[in-house]
Order: sequence, then structure tokens, then C-alpha cells
Amino acid sequence: MAKLFEPWTVKGVKAKNRICMSPMCQYATPDGVAGAWHMVHLGSRAVGGAGVVMVEASAVSPEGRITLMDLGIWTDSQAEALSPVAAFVAGNGAVPAIQIAHAGRKASTAPPFEGGGPLFPGEGGWTTEAPSALPFGTLPPPRPLDPADLGRIREDFVAAAERARHAGFKILEIHMAHGYLLHSFLSPLSNQRTDRYGGSLDNRMRFPLEVARAVRSVWPEEYPLWVRISATDWIDGGWDPAQSVEFSGRLLKEGIDVIDCSSGGVDPAAKIPVGPGYQTGMAARIRREAGIPVVAVGMITDPVQAEHILATGQADAVSLAREMLRDPYWPLHAANRLGQDVAWPVRYQRAKPGA
Ligand SMILES: Cc1cc2nc3c(=O)[nH]c(=O)nc-3n(C[C@H](O)[C@H](O)[C@H](O)COP(=O)(O)O)c2cc1C
Repeated sequence: MAKLFEPWTVKGVKAKNRICMSPMCQYATPDGVAGAWHMVHLGSRAVGGAGVVMVEASAVSPEGRITLMDLGIWTDSQAEALSPVAAFVAGNGAVPAIQIAHAGRKASTAPPFEGGGPLFPGEGGWTTEAPSALPFGTLPPPRPLDPADLGRIREDFVAAAERARHAGFKILEIHMAHGYLLHSFLSPLSNQRTDRYGGSLDNRMRFPLEVARAVRSVWPEEYPLWVRISATDWIDGGWDPAQSVEFSGRLLKEGIDVIDCSSGGVDPAAKIPVGPGYQTGMAARIRREAGIPVVAVGMITDPVQAEHILATGQADAVSLAREMLRDPYWPLHAANRLGQDVAWPVRYQRAKPGA
């Protein structure tokens, strides 16, 4: 059997294969509440055969949104709206997963399809929150967080995790990548604090590790808890793979089960060598050196490429984003390409090759 189609069990949760749908912001709701778009978007990838379907970055607080159209999980009614989505995904053979996030200094912008520029107060924008008053690119400078703010934000992540559990999700991912709040604590490029949350590597890791510990304490022990990191900032003097190995090892000790290995996002000036599987080598290093299961993501588009990543022990699973938008049925097509006889949705069985 191809590795890609081997079941993947972490703690008490079994995915039928090692293909994950990567979280992707849809900017498709005015109030953070999931609607028909989310059901179709996520549901069709479950029908398409993915093992894990992950809901986009869902904001743990209003200030944690990137845009006014982000999905949210800071109220019970937002979580209740996600519940049928989680049930549909599970009912169609995929593990329902959700990413919880705070956008930090990259918050308060228009959606990309409306230009992505800063939102000012008269347009519904707000002052963003970050470790230091250092702006991201041309966005307005954020307000540096004080220790009381950190406690509030940690509890926002905890409450979001509890809501995700009540909504029926079986995998939770904490977003610590792409220059958003928790990544901006890790990177010396965005964190220039002089208190115990800035400076040394230990200090920069402190707040993200506190969030991980607090979330782990409420997320059920038998359910996997993932963390998405940016393994490098792609900038000299920034966060790098060696620090990511150290951080991943510390996350493992806090009870994190899987590292979802992405990169970049803290500085728009970074030169990222984008190409097929460009982040996979860093996932492999974290898996090898920190001894924690990893998910590889980033320009994985071809079933043979995906199988190679797994068969050579570089990752435990692969995650696809844009390719899944191009083809919601990618897993079913991949099975055909790799000669694997996987179950098709019963209602689609007459379309299965050879049926
Ligand atoms: C439309 C879109 C929205 C995205 N939103 C998120 C998100 O909510 N959370 C996240 O961690 N990454 C997000 N990403 C990044 C993807 O999850 C993925 O890591 C990245 O696109 C690289 O994978 P790919 O080459 O398969 O697209 C987004 C990407 C796209 C294209």
C-alpha cells in the first residue's frame, strides 16, 4: 500500500490517510460566523477523500482577526455555527480539524481580494497588538502588549479551544506561523522586548509555550494538538531552523503532538525560494532532530511527490492548500494515480475509474 493511503493514528484519533487540507482563510463572513460557503468549501474536501480537513484560521478575539470577514471562535454562537460543518466532515470520512489564531500586528486589513491594505478606525479598523511597537511592512505600528494583555490573550486561546471541542473538532491547531501574534513573539525581528518575554531564545519562546501549555490543559488528552510554525523567517538574524528544532522539542514536552511546518511571514522583504516542496527539508529536520511527528506543507501538488515525502521519512503526513482549491477530489485522483483502491463516496461510486 502507498504510504499516502496508510491510516494515521495520533493519540485516539485515526485519519484514513495522510492527506490533509491545509487551513485557508476564506474571508467569507461579516460576523465571524460560518455559513453555507464554509460548509461547501470544507465539506467538499471531505467528500473528495482528504484524511484531515482543517478549518481556516479562526480568530480567538475580535482584535485577532486579519480582516472584518475572518471566521471567529470567540463567541459560543460562532462555535455553534461550526458544529454542523465538523459533523459533516466527520460524517464523510475525514477528521474535522480547526486552526485557532491571533493575527497580531498583521491584523486590521482589507481582504486580499480588496487590496489587503490597512483598515483605519473610520473603516472598522483597530489598533493592532504585538510584542513590540514594530510595524509589519507599511501597516500602522501595533501597541506593545503588557503582561495583563498576555494573560487575557492566553485565556482567549483556551476559551477558543474549549469551544472547538464542544463544536465537535478532533484536531486543534494553534497558529504560531506566518508573522501572526505568536510567531511575532518568537522572532527577534518582531520581538524587541526587554522583559522576560523578549531577548534570549528562552524568553522569546515563553509566551507561545505558555499558550501551548494552557491550551493543552483543556484540550482532551486523546485528541491531537498541532502547532503550525514558520520554521524560518528567511532573513539573516531572524527565526531559523535551529531555533525551530529547539522550540519543537519544547512543544513536545508541553504535550504538543504534531508540528505543521510552514515558513516565512514575519517580514515582507524576505526572499523565499518558493518551489516544489520548498519547506519539506525543514519538516524533515524537525522530525529527525526534535523527534516529533510533522506535517509537510508548501507546493506539494503531485501524488508521486507526496508519496516520496512520506516514503523517505521526511514527514508523517502532507498538507495541501492551493492544489486542493484547484481539485477538491485530489485524494481520490491521487489514489487512482498511485494504483490504490480506496473507497469512494457511495453516491459517487458510479464515477470511480473502472466501476
Ligand atoms: C487562500 C489561502 C488562505 C490561507 N489561509 C491560511 C490560514 O488560514 N492559516 C494558515 O496557517 N495558512 C494559510 N494559508 C497558507 C496555506 O495553508 C499553505 O500553508 C500555503 O498556501 C502553502 O501550501 P500550498 O503550496 O499547498 O498552497 C493560506 C493560503 C491560501 C492560498
